[in-house]
Amino acid sequence: MITLNVNGTAHSVDADPATPLLYVLRDDLALSGAKFGCGLGQCGACTVMVGGVAAFSCLTPVSVVGVRPVRTVEGLGNADNPGVVQQAFIDEQAAQCGYCIAGMVMRAQALLDKTPNPSDAEIRRAMAPNLCRCGTHMRILRAVRRAADTLRGQATTLPVASR
Ligand code: FES
Ligand code: FES
Repeated sequence: MITLNVNGTAHSVDADPATPLLYVLRDDLALSGAKFGCGLGQCGACTVMVGGVAAFSCLTPVSVVGVRPVRTVEGLGNADNPGVVQQAFIDEQAAQCGYCIAGMVMRAQALLDKTPNPSDAEIRRAMAPNLCRCGTHMRILRAVRRAADTLRGQATTLPVASR
């Protein structure tokens, strides 16, 4: 048995140590926010936070997580009570098909937890590993800026790109 702390709750899962964290989250814990895209660390759809750092859960064997807390998009809020980053993505209408969004939100959360006032260049750099095949990158970047401004108690006045 492997013990995981996910979104503040301890879970024991009966999984092969080499099983990707993504599969355990989705198949054993019914946390389906993180998505399987490429399975190769090339798209970011599977991004969650492990020990406060954005991680490709498709490439993370469940056995290496250890005591580091795992945070998934389900841990940030829900449809009735979205977290700040989630609300910013809603406000900017950043989702088209939505497949990439949970990963985008988690990578943005990891950035803002460490860098509350990122420059536009820092936002672009931090978000670069995550791809959106629908091409809503500009809305996503604006959503991250909006979330950063909201978390610092400021109105959004500095869009990443012209609206
Ligand atoms: S599914 Fe993990 S990076 Fe694409
Ligand atoms: S909204 Fe469709 S992949 Fe990003």
